[in-house]
Amino acid sequence: MKIVAGNSNRALAEEISAYLDVPLASCQVRRFADQEIFIEIQENVRGEDVFVLQSTSYPANDHLMELLILIDALRRSSARRITAVIPYFGYARQDRKPGPRTPISAKLVANLITHAGADRVLTLDLHAGQIQGFFDIPTDNLYAAPVMTRDIKERYEQGTAMVVSPDVGGVVRARALAKRIDAPLAIVDKRRERPGESEVMNIIGDVSGRDCILVDDIVDSGGTLCNAAEALLNKGAKSVTAYITHGVLSGGAVARVSASKLKELVITNSIEPTAAVLAAPNIRTISIAPLMGEAINRTALEKSVSSLFN
Ligand code: R5P
Repeated sequence: MKIVAGNSNRALAEEISAYLDVPLASCQVRRFADQEIFIEIQENVRGEDVFVLQSTSYPANDHLMELLILIDALRRSSARRITAVIPYFGYARQDRKPGPRTPISAKLVANLITHAGADRVLTLDLHAGQIQGFFDIPTDNLYAAPVMTRDIKERYEQGTAMVVSPDVGGVVRARALAKRIDAPLAIVDKRRERPGESEVMNIIGDVSGRDCILVDDIVDSGGTLCNAAEALLNKGAKSVTAYITHGVLSGGAVARVSASKLKELVITNSIEPTAAVLAAPNIRTISIAPLMGEAINRTALEKSVSSLFN
């Protein structure tokens, strides 16, 4: 196999390359003066099973375009099979029409990746599982839950932890983790009773004296998380930690999380952590490189990928 990495997350690409013991293929990504992207694959890929690593994280449009151009370059270089490995699939939150005359951008991005020439997609914790169906090519959606479960089990005694979904939409994800660590489940139910009134946070479940573990797919502004942490502590939770797959952490999110009452925010390296993330006292990153690497290995060998989740 060959592994080609875009510029979105070189550190993760290097970790995956080390896991697989396959060097990253030599490839140059350059910019023209007007910021057009130009790519040159600097080794033969004819007939190869190629995995292209790229998260479509900030700056989302540049990284997406880089991925599309990489796929096009590989297709025109006669690669036998091209798998787009997208640890963080940006645009995933635009998976439905929120109102009239609005796009479904997640579907558009899926079409772009397919039409560029990808044969398969390998991604992680899609915002909504149904996005898999936006692709008409085989798409594997991996779960970070096994990696998180291992980390949680090393840190919490059985019987003290309680898994919490920060909103009603995340209950399925939270329930799955609660089952894995054999912990009870609580739900934060946000409601705006009347337009113009601020949201009220109701907690479904008794969290008093519990070490609460908030679970979500994305932390962006950090608002959902910090508000949920506050509400849980007000209801008597002993501590609040969060396990979130994708640390988007835009704008002032890192400062917000640092100043919050969250004991710890644990994110994966699906998005390359910024210097601010690495310096934050209560943010820790866990690696999904072995998970992604093993999924790539199994895809190349035509072996089961789902068995990774057991
Ligand atoms: C929303 O449906 C997602 O699962 C996350 O809860 C959301 O993207 C988090 O955003 P923020 O950190 O800006 O509140």
